[in-house]
Amino acid sequence: MNSKVRSLKAYPQDRLNRAKEEAKAKGLKIYDFGTGDPKEPTPPFIREALIKAVPEVSQYPTVKGRKDLRETIARWFEKRFGVSLNPEREVIPTSGSKEAIFHFPLVFIDIDSERRKVIYGMPAYPVYERGTLFAGGETVPVRLKYEEQFLLRLDKLPSSLLEETAIVWINYPHNPTGAVASLSYLEEVYGICREYGIILCSDECYTEIYFESKPPSLLQVGKEGAVVFHSLSKRSGMTGYRSGFVAGDEKIVSTYLKWRSSFGVASQDFVQQAAKAAWEDEKHVEERRGIFRRKRDVFAELFKELGLEFEVPEATFYFWVKLPEGVSGEEYAVHLLNYGIVVSPGEFFGEGGEGFFRIALVPTVEECKEAAVLWKKAHEDFMRKRN
Ligand SMILES: Cc1ncc(COP(=O)(O)O)c(C=O)c1O
Repeated sequence: MNSKVRSLKAYPQDRLNRAKEEAKAKGLKIYDFGTGDPKEPTPPFIREALIKAVPEVSQYPTVKGRKDLRETIARWFEKRFGVSLNPEREVIPTSGSKEAIFHFPLVFIDIDSERRKVIYGMPAYPVYERGTLFAGGETVPVRLKYEEQFLLRLDKLPSSLLEETAIVWINYPHNPTGAVASLSYLEEVYGICREYGIILCSDECYTEIYFESKPPSLLQVGKEGAVVFHSLSKRSGMTGYRSGFVAGDEKIVSTYLKWRSSFGVASQDFVQQAAKAAWEDEKHVEERRGIFRRKRDVFAELFKELGLEFEVPEATFYFWVKLPEGVSGEEYAVHLLNYGIVVSPGEFFGEGGEGFFRIALVPTVEECKEAAVLWKKAHEDFMRKRN
């Protein structure tokens, strides 16, 4: 087995899975706020575009992707962020953003160099760590703090560390905390990465799920040394299609493109045609934001009523909620399962997650309302038992 990944902990999910099975066996209705895979249907026009594109003769798709999709993405990006992208050299369609994030360090970490550290914030989406380890890089998780709005603060890290760093990952709007970053924050992080010659990667798969102002893209600050990762999964309800794109610095994007053919991850042609239809439409995205907003409001009210400490998310479909002193995420999650409610303990997202839980606004609006009623009782029972 690859020794670099032997040290990885499997998610501490066993106990929770057992409790989930027990709850199901008891015949409880399950309200699953665990995995971030919403249940709203993919808009019919996207499904139709895919079906229409399924060919009689199926041939290998190219890693470079369809020209019409790259041009559509470039148009969308310019309209949304005011940044022009060259569709020939600065955009690659991907099979979702996860694979693109995972494979990136395989191309950009030199295992023979002194400079093979990869910095990312913790708690985090686990793929920055996994991709780095598989590529032979050195992981440098930096704890994100509630008091610092969960922003990764490169200005607080020693320059000796930055000198040995190849890649920095940022992810705003952020999973799991829902934190958002301002343009001035992006400017600051970008400036530091430029100063040290570090590639700055920005996972922007939640920029379209916003409720207040529109979150910015890193490419608004600069392209040199910068790469962004986008996805249709959350924006358009297309998690099962596997479709996203990478864009940014021409040199980095073209080098990445050259080596991506080794991975066998070219996006299927018919998925790319569905993706084109999705990027061309904003109406369905606006509707999805409306649905997530309604769910968000249900839980903002509930958690306020329960006296829990949390920020109402301005973007993403996650709530990151602090538990009362001394309560672990796992203990609380197992208790909620007795009522059929599934949440993710903060520990699942690594260091810095202890004492929090995350919910993903996955069930329908109606189910969210039902779950909120049950949750109130579950929470009151939990607190009564503790006291
Ligand atoms: C922060 C973050 N990045 C990337 C992804 C991957 O998304 P996809 O591969 O579906 O585009 C997810 C999925 O949950 C995520 O939360």
